[in-house]
Amino acid sequence: MCAENTAARRIMSVTQEGAGVLTAAAEEPLDPWLLGLFSLSGVQAASRTLLEFVEAEVPRRSPFTPPKAVSLELSGDEGAKLDDVLAEVCDTFVRHAVDTRHPLSMAHMVPPPLGISVLADLLIGATNQCAFIYEEAPLAATLERQVVDWLCARVGYGAGAGGMLTSGGTMSNLLAVHLARERALQEGRDLTALRIVASDQVHVSLDKAASLAGLGHDAIVRVPTDVTGRLRDGAVCRLADELASKDLHPFLFICTAGTANAGVVEPLPEFLASARSHGAWCHMDAALGGMLTLTDPVATSDWYQADSVSWDPHKTLYASYAVGSLLLRNDHESDRLRFHAEYALKRDSDQDAGDRRLEGSRRLEALKLWMCIRHLGTAGYTQILRRARERTTSFAERIHKAPGLELVTEPDTTVVCFRLVQPGLSQRDVDLLHERVQQALFHSGRLLLSTTRVGGSTVLRAVLLNPLVGLEDLDEALQHVTQETARQAALL
Ligand SMILES: Cc1ncc(COP(=O)(O)O)c(C=O)c1O
Repeated sequence: MCAENTAARRIMSVTQEGAGVLTAAAEEPLDPWLLGLFSLSGVQAASRTLLEFVEAEVPRRSPFTPPKAVSLELSGDEGAKLDDVLAEVCDTFVRHAVDTRHPLSMAHMVPPPLGISVLADLLIGATNQCAFIYEEAPLAATLERQVVDWLCARVGYGAGAGGMLTSGGTMSNLLAVHLARERALQEGRDLTALRIVASDQVHVSLDKAASLAGLGHDAIVRVPTDVTGRLRDGAVCRLADELASKDLHPFLFICTAGTANAGVVEPLPEFLASARSHGAWCHMDAALGGMLTLTDPVATSDWYQADSVSWDPHKTLYASYAVGSLLLRNDHESDRLRFHAEYALKRDSDQDAGDRRLEGSRRLEALKLWMCIRHLGTAGYTQILRRARERTTSFAERIHKAPGLELVTEPDTTVVCFRLVQPGLSQRDVDLLHERVQQALFHSGRLLLSTTRVGGSTVLRAVLLNPLVGLEDLDEALQHVTQETARQAALL
């Protein structure tokens, strides 16, 4: 097919005989093969088949069907027909993909995406607008501003606030560290004396951020938490004062709303007070906890005082990957990300969606979030997030009552950590048991949980962001855990 196609011949004739040939060749009718490659009507029927296939997999009995052997192979020499590629991908990738819609898929902060989000993905791909400059995507900056304004309003930020969409919490945290560090350096601070104060539950993305920001691996000074993963009163202030007494400068305080391990919401007032007394930046890592602005507006009414907030719509607003956000109390802080590109950005233009952003080429995720928010509204989001939180509470209550299980801490968000109580075993064996139970459940595909470390021991962890989870699913999940624990304990 390739050797014979007229497009290939036309390119050859242009390179061999010069540009003059192009005019003559351009009058030739376009090769149907080439046209088909870029045609959207050509994929219409296929996209319907594909979505039907993905959805047909939903009523599967388990959230994951482990592949027996990897049968996916990329042979890239010869092309294949669209239908054949689809069939291959359905039989391999889709069949063995983790089913995020399944109620027993509870391992991580990966909820099922809204239908409208999947549709938006299709539209974003089909129009392929580059959210960088006005000339490539005229409405990109407007869409992004509107969704960022909506997020800022939830956090309680007022006039002058702003921010940006990012690819997720890692990128948002990286940018927050960068902006805070730039401000500290502008104030004349010594880079080697800069320290970040956070709890020992701080997300690993902040270690990456500190490293990338040239602050070194010891730049984050961690306040220890107790066995439930919570901070003790006054511990943040004490540590910050101690740093200052050693001529170190705590330039950034990070309060996590929804820790990755146990979903704990840390006490913002303490971080704020310390940040103020040291003239520092206060950042909230609310990648998960951003949801609380919708479900608990009273408890989050002081969030507007933080200098910046990370909040991931791909976690708690049910947007498909990858969309995070960094919200700024003062949008001018992002001027520190402004660099001029002669060929592209117009200086001081708010119309270029790539201005004051880190990435150049950017997917138009703003459209997706815009469509999701327009469809659900604040009320719709509040409703489904409250349901997810109710299910989390119900799960914790069941664990309280279950013999042989112990809740690590009451859930503040949608994460539940719990321990298997095995009085006769050493701590090492108990830790091992948690790992084995989680792995056995994963490999059987019956229940997806994760493990983590809280208070010096390994625990099981469930994330209940999926609002499609029913009460009977919670019972089934615990039944799986209890049965698998008995099986694995016998093998120790
Ligand atoms: C508290 C917290 N911050 C940041 C992140 C990083 O987010 P992402 O994976 O979207 O980069 C996570 C991820 O789970 C998180 O839980």
